[in-house]
Amino acid sequence: MGCCHHYFAPAEGGDNAFTIDASTLTFGAGCLREAGEQARGLGMKRVGIYTDAGVKKLPPLGTVTGSLKAAGIDYAIYDEVRVEPTDASFTAAARFAADGKFDGFLSLGGGSVMDTCKAANLYSTYPADFLTYVNAPIGGGQPISGPLKPHIACPTTAGTGSEATGIAIFDLLAMKAKTGIQSRHLKPTTGLIDPEVTATLPSTIVASTGFDAMSHALETLTDISYARRARQPRGSARPPSQGANPFSDMVAFESLGLIGKYLVRAVNDPADTEARAEMMYAATLAGIAFGNAGCHLPHGMSYAVSGLVREYRAPHYPQHEPFVPHGMSVVLNAPSVYRFTASACPDRHLDAAQRLGADVRGATPADAGEVLAGQIIRFMQATRFPGGLGSIGFTERDLDALVEGAWPQQRVIKNAPREVSRDDLRELFRGALAYW
Ligand SMILES: [Fe+2]
Repeated sequence: MGCCHHYFAPAEGGDNAFTIDASTLTFGAGCLREAGEQARGLGMKRVGIYTDAGVKKLPPLGTVTGSLKAAGIDYAIYDEVRVEPTDASFTAAARFAADGKFDGFLSLGGGSVMDTCKAANLYSTYPADFLTYVNAPIGGGQPISGPLKPHIACPTTAGTGSEATGIAIFDLLAMKAKTGIQSRHLKPTTGLIDPEVTATLPSTIVASTGFDAMSHALETLTDISYARRARQPRGSARPPSQGANPFSDMVAFESLGLIGKYLVRAVNDPADTEARAEMMYAATLAGIAFGNAGCHLPHGMSYAVSGLVREYRAPHYPQHEPFVPHGMSVVLNAPSVYRFTASACPDRHLDAAQRLGADVRGATPADAGEVLAGQIIRFMQATRFPGGLGSIGFTERDLDALVEGAWPQQRVIKNAPREVSRDDLRELFRGALAYW
């Protein structure tokens, strides 16, 4: 890409440095069978396994428990993880961790499972009032005082990248707000990324999680530059969401190229094991990328979308209440966002579109937002995805509520490459209602 150097030029009051936080991860078909030796290598003797009711019925759980048994490691299984975790579900999971006297953890599932395991590890290792570690201003934003117990994360979807990040997201029930806990200490000690686990995933889940990964990579590339983010008084206070930097660029670009090539194939053909394996790798890379840079508007806006949905239920997701899968609530905002942010860094938008397979010959900086938006929309159409927030039940009358729901997400909104007013946010939601 030809744009990164001036993008990172020093700026008045901006940060002078960025931090690379790399993960130890194992990737490959069948690697879940290494769970036992990994656990033993980390000194675990009694493991708390976190999963959910859906994943519990699938073969990977037997693979993991068999491997632990063969390594002579004791374990207990917690299978009550909620698909959208809450403070209450985190607290219940932490109680199981405290009661179980574990010396290590293993999570097997999607983002909700891995995030719940992170929180259970935290609150059982350093017990505290629940809001203590929750992101300010909703919570106390206190730093975690030291390392947690070892945690082996085993994703079963190609999406969240939670295995590579120190973030745990949940709904705070009393405030009806989506927020999170963020610390390098929350990052799993290691991850086992075994693409065999996605063989039985329904296409709607492959699509939603795949678009989540695409959005992680796109938001990473179009974040504000780390050099323009306000410098903290101490380097140790530099947040993991530090803005775009040369390392996150490199990882996000590699991820986007794979997603451009394999997302549609992985969604539309469950038998395409090559595409599903490549998506698994791409999603982990995207997790590493945004774990080193942060997300911005599509994620900040998504929390309002998922919180305000009235009737929509997605196939193959829980049906007992209205529910928008995370990746869907994110990517439905994305084309509208990039039409808005492109003027801040058009080269980055064009480079991203090209990585996703768009023909950018002859495109000018003024076309950048439209070119990238158009390419995302083509992917949505090719996977028979909803065509905007209107397709999942939102109308013009919801715009005020959506703005009110998203506005408190300043931590992520401030990572956008442009300043965003409430009126801007309203127009972004309006622009996301219908793409075709
Ligand atoms: Fe996400």
